[in-house]
Amino acid sequence: MLGKLLFTWLGLLGLSLAWATISVADAPEYVGNEGCNCHKTEMKDWAESTHGKALDQLLASKRSRKQNKAMKDLGMDYKKDYDQDEKCLACHTTGFNQPGGYSLKNSKDDLKGAGCEMCHGAGSKYRVLHKDKDETFTKAEAAALGEIYPPNEEMCRKCHDNENSVFNSKSDPKYGFNFKERLEEKKSWHKKYELLFKH
Ligand code: HEC
Ligand code: HEC
Ligand code: HEC
Repeated sequence: MLGKLLFTWLGLLGLSLAWATISVADAPEYVGNEGCNCHKTEMKDWAESTHGKALDQLLASKRSRKQNKAMKDLGMDYKKDYDQDEKCLACHTTGFNQPGGYSLKNSKDDLKGAGCEMCHGAGSKYRVLHKDKDETFTKAEAAALGEIYPPNEEMCRKCHDNENSVFNSKSDPKYGFNFKERLEEKKSWHKKYELLFKH
């Protein structure tokens, strides 16, 4: 009796472990901006935008005088590089320490900066759908594979006015985040283009 119970219990444990492994393996991974490069115009806008250059702010040699001053005002050492500092990378790179994402060991160029996937969701799965079904995929199909469209306030707030960043409204009201207003500053990410297909 006891043996049978133990057996069942072990079986259940095994099942739930297997399930956990499957669901982790099932989650979409980060692919980096190159994986989004059919969208040439958005790519170009983004590369020139503040999000595209977000990693630069962690490097003393690339920061502007204004950015150095902002750091100094918050009591930070603006002469230092922070590109190896794990506390900074989550919001200045793409998918930091997540599967496929930027890490100290995987610092691929197309994972630098706040990439497409930080607003639109990790792309390994919906990318394939976009390719395979092109004009015929539906928004619901893409959403089921992890695409976030249109990006929402919650996505932005993972980085903006977030308690993990010193650049938030508690340290200075200018770092507050008004979603509607900030969404209008399209030079900071990419312009709004008409979708080619209805989806
Ligand atoms: C939780 C996300 C997050 C983390 C962690 C984070 N940042 Fe940022 N950082 C942001 C956001 C968002 C902005 C843009 C804020 C704005 O303009 O409203 C920003 C802006 C900056 C700026 C420009 C400030 C200005 O006024 O121009 C610098 C420099 C910077 N970050 C450096 C760092 C450094 C160094 C670290 C680590 C000690 C760090 N960040 C950690 C999200 C983050
Ligand atoms: C800071 C967030 C953010 C980043 C980063 C971002 N996007 Fe977007 N994207 C948006 C928002 C918000 C919309 C929806 C615009 C609307 O409906 O007003 C959008 C819309 C789109 C659209 C629909 C057509 C259009 O252009 O409006 C495509 C395609 C797109 N993004 C691709 C990309 C690609 C590719 C990248 C990376 C090179 C990228 N996005 C980076 C926020 C972002
Ligand atoms: C992965 C983190 C991350 C996400 C997600 C993110 N941002 Fe940002 N954003 C930043 C960082 C870092 C900066 C500062 C870059 C710089 O100033 O060079 C920034 C800068 C900006 C700026 C320019 C601020 C300025 O004063 O120049 C705007 C506007 C902005 N973001 C809007 C948005 C919106 C809208 C969303 C969501 C649709 C969003 N961001 C999502 C990290 C993020």
